Amino acid sequence: MLPEAHAEKIASGELRDDAAQAAVIAQLSSLAESLEAREKRGAIGKFLDKNGTPKGIYIYGDVGRGKTMLMDLFFADLQVKSKRRIHFHAFMQDIHKQRQALKDGDVVAQIAKDLSKQAQVLCLDEMQINDIADAMIVGRLFQALIENGTVIVTTSNQPPDDLYKDGLNRSLFLPAIKLMKKSFEVISLASLTDYRLGRVKSWESFVTPLGPKADAHVQRIWERLTDVPKGEPGEIPVLGRSLHVPESAHGCARFSFADLCEAPLGPPDYLALAANFQTIFVEGIPALKTSQRNEAKRFVLLIDTLYDAKRHLVASSAEAPERIYPQGDHRFEFSRTISRLQEMQSAAWWGQKIVET
Ligand SMILES: Nc1ncnc2c1ncn2[C@@H]1O[C@H](COP(=O)(O)OP(=O)(O)O)[C@@H](O)[C@H]1O
Ligand SMILES: [Mg+2]
Repeated sequence: MLPEAHAEKIASGELRDDAAQAAVIAQLSSLAESLEAREKRGAIGKFLDKNGTPKGIYIYGDVGRGKTMLMDLFFADLQVKSKRRIHFHAFMQDIHKQRQALKDGDVVAQIAKDLSKQAQVLCLDEMQINDIADAMIVGRLFQALIENGTVIVTTSNQPPDDLYKDGLNRSLFLPAIKLMKKSFEVISLASLTDYRLGRVKSWESFVTPLGPKADAHVQRIWERLTDVPKGEPGEIPVLGRSLHVPESAHGCARFSFADLCEAPLGPPDYLALAANFQTIFVEGIPALKTSQRNEAKRFVLLIDTLYDAKRHLVASSAEAPERIYPQGDHRFEFSRTISRLQEMQSAAWWGQKIVET
């Protein structure tokens, strides 16, 4: 049973007791109960089920709050034979592949029928709608799955109303949002703790000098915060253009100093960066010469923007903050940058009350 499995993990110290997570566990448990009862009634019982398919669950919240952990706990504990757990991205890729193979007739209905046979419970991690191909199909697919009795449990960084925000032809996606709000219990996981951040010690976030040791150190922090060795490349919209993000994962984005401060970027780019990510990695900050006034100016803007948005910074630098730009134009503003860089390495900035062991 899920409540017991959850309590055991807290008792053993594997998980910290968290009120916001406990509330989600309660909802997942009641769904698990009705799914297990449905399983016991068997196929005929399901056919006679007047209430139709039980409501699924949509858990949303910021990164590191434990959405995936809770869903996986639910999945592992669930006594239902035909269940499937997959990353949303991989799921959609699979769907598009099947669509191409089928071509004729109501392809979505056929796919849903097959899928429902394999999975009466479908757990989709990290739902995110970024492209029009997904946006156009998700609503119909979910609708057909639900009609065939499949219950969907999903996690996302956004509430349904914010999915595919500013996307091309978004109006065509609105029925999908309506369906999700009707067919899923939408739960916000507003835990106060970002459990991933707890894995990084604040003073590790700014490493000097540059070299293989610093690279390895930054890579370690990246993996601790994202659980992947390498992020996905992507674009974020900036005033009708787009900014290329070389790597991103789990709310973290990774750049070189050259990407952000040598290229002709400006305040809108940095604002978009702060709006889209919780933690920004900036690697290879050089010692700046007097002639590099433009780079210095952009770096000042970048740090001001991240500071104002209360973002986390992980950086590798040739020098400590106070020695990056000892003289030159904008040196006066740069003194503010130095103090901000120092504050951004403090335990308080990383939300850590005490230094962790
Ligand atoms: N209550 C908790 N106590 C300890 N660690 C936790 C707790 N909740 C989550 N974690 C850990 O924090 C990390 C981030 O959780 P995750 O479920 O991946 O977050 P999300 O999916 O919301 O980004 C995971 O390693 C997870 O096991
Ligand atoms: Mg997750």
